[in-house]
Amino acid sequence: MGLDHVFTEPPPEAAADWTVPQRWADYSAADHRTWVTLYERQARVLPGRACDAFLRGLEALDLHGGGVPDFERMNEKLFALTGWRVVAVPGLVPDEVFFDHLAHRRFPAGRFIRREDQLDYLQEPDVFHDVFGHVPMLTDPTFADYMQAYGEGGLRALGLGRLHNLARLYWYTVEFGLMRTAEGLRIYGAGIVSSKAESIFSLEDPSPNRIGFDLERVMRTPYRIDDFQQAYFVIPSLQALLDATLLDFGALYARLDAEADIPIDALTRADEVFTRGTQAYAREKAGHAA
Ligand SMILES: [Fe+2]
Repeated sequence: MGLDHVFTEPPPEAAADWTVPQRWADYSAADHRTWVTLYERQARVLPGRACDAFLRGLEALDLHGGGVPDFERMNEKLFALTGWRVVAVPGLVPDEVFFDHLAHRRFPAGRFIRREDQLDYLQEPDVFHDVFGHVPMLTDPTFADYMQAYGEGGLRALGLGRLHNLARLYWYTVEFGLMRTAEGLRIYGAGIVSSKAESIFSLEDPSPNRIGFDLERVMRTPYRIDDFQQAYFVIPSLQALLDATLLDFGALYARLDAEADIPIDALTRADEVFTRGTQAYAREKAGHAA
């Protein structure tokens, strides 16, 4: 998320870099209640499912106390750990603005929070998704470097017309990534850890394929924005993810010219298969829609 945008120029309240004041004092009691409800739900689901780096980050940032976090106070802790800061933005921002923030270790976050009657339904990323989902991982030094490298790669990809390939990397790692650990598969993707249903589905449902991470494979795989993923990619470690991203993508982009996309539900002979999914969930949903 953050790879598409609604506005074409900063709205009146925003600075040239699209940031706005969070205005923490303006959150209502209901807003804070919604945060606490969502937080407590995830706090029950994530132990034993989220990776250690995420759970450690949540602890280090002390994100649940008073409801919606005050970015200023949170940023003191985050900046001391990895030099990252969270900045508030009015909604989805243009790609070059988004990448430029990441390249300078600033994470753009929405400041609004979903309504109490819409806990599971979200069209645009809100402060719970952006902060609870993304910021704990930014306390990990290796992941912090990965996000900066991604921003720098994004700026290059814009110039090369390769954004659709790079967006898939973001989607299948930052948003929906899984990690292999000695204790089993664990979640590190923000789109998963901020969703109760997908936290369970991504690890335990027999439907989706779970495939070993390969940069080129990921860039050839479309994704869905409307429902649970049909494929999840599993990294061996955060260091391996960072190492793959520090390579120059120029040669890779050139190869992609000659290669077709891989269908969203397919496995290839080269895949390291953790789970051969039944795809039953996606098939049933498609059946209902037809
Ligand atoms: Fe996100």
